[in-house]
Amino acid sequence: MSENTTALFEPFKSKNLSLDNRVVMAPMTRTFSPENVPNDLNVEYYRRRAAGGVGLIITEGTCVGHKAANGYPNVPFIYGDEALAGWKKVVDAVHKEGGKIMPQLWHVGSVRRPGIEPDPEVPGYGPSGLVMPGKKRCHEMTESDIADVIAAFAKAAADSKAIGFDGVEIHGAHGYLLDQFFWGGLNERTDKWGGDHVGRTRFAAEIVKAIRAEVGADFPVILRWSQWKQQDYSVKLATSPLEMEQFLEPLTDAGVDIFHCSTRRFWEPEFEGSNLNLAGWTKKLTGKPTITVGSVGLDTAFAEEGQKDFMDAKPASLSNLMDRMEHGEFDLVAVGRALIANPDWANKVKAADDASLAPYSKEMLKELA
Ligand code: FNR
Repeated sequence: MSENTTALFEPFKSKNLSLDNRVVMAPMTRTFSPENVPNDLNVEYYRRRAAGGVGLIITEGTCVGHKAANGYPNVPFIYGDEALAGWKKVVDAVHKEGGKIMPQLWHVGSVRRPGIEPDPEVPGYGPSGLVMPGKKRCHEMTESDIADVIAAFAKAAADSKAIGFDGVEIHGAHGYLLDQFFWGGLNERTDKWGGDHVGRTRFAAEIVKAIRAEVGADFPVILRWSQWKQQDYSVKLATSPLEMEQFLEPLTDAGVDIFHCSTRRFWEPEFEGSNLNLAGWTKKLTGKPTITVGSVGLDTAFAEEGQKDFMDAKPASLSNLMDRMEHGEFDLVAVGRALIANPDWANKVKAADDASLAPYSKEMLKELA
């Protein structure tokens, strides 16, 4: 990896956010927070990535204050005095290293199964009670459930701002709650929260507006979205630029500052006839800055084999990424697994110290280092 990576290390400024460079740590659930409270191990994990030169850290998904928000054991929450005090230690440690950090605000929706903390009795919640298309196995959200969840996101954002986070990312991707509203396969509602793209984006748009009302115009709000769903990797929310524009417009109007466009392989063109990837199209259609992601710094041969090998990969060339950046296709680059393997990935890449980059292995997920 000896290409010129200068563009990755240029500062970024957008209205309300200034970053030293374009490297973003992708949100990654690690389940190392017993009692749902960020602890000293979590503090050190994020501090090391800030010290390692990451421009912006997006934390692992952290659950907003709603009884059905969580889907997994040992995930940190972002409500309650203890969890917020834990997050404040993380924020302070990252800032001390000169880094920036935003929490990823999360509600898993119908992915939740009974038996999970904080209340094992609580089932999954979804727009139409569906866990998969045609499989009605969880709670169908009422108007008051919808209002409660919107309020929970707004409160989480207000608390995030109060404890010093540099913005928030809303998790609207991967088949979790916001994405369950976006996707017709799980959203069969015929009221104002379903139907056409305006109806299906309304829930997320109302969350963005409620957050804005709490945090003001200047606090950065990122929305992460994906075409693929964990329930079905082949799903596409938008099959043409026109559909994508219709999908994104209400979200842009609601006040999203930056779109984080989640793909597994950043080099894949989104639509036939153009080389632009998902972040490229999103930027072109919204005029907003975008973050790309997906196998950055990982061996393409491994990554191209798809889901089966998603979890193990070797470092590889960044030339395709740098070409795209230099053409302004996207503004920021999120790095996930390469940053688990190398907390100082950004500093190593900046120094062109290729030889010292460790390959990623899923074994690394067994500890938080
Ligand atoms: C993830 N990913 C993820 N995405 C997200 O939006 N919220 C999350 O909490 C998680 N959790 C998570 C855990 C682990 C262990 C992995 C490997 C991934 C997806 C992640 O943010 C990123 O989009 C992918 O990992 C692709 O980027 P890389 O790893 O190819 O750079």
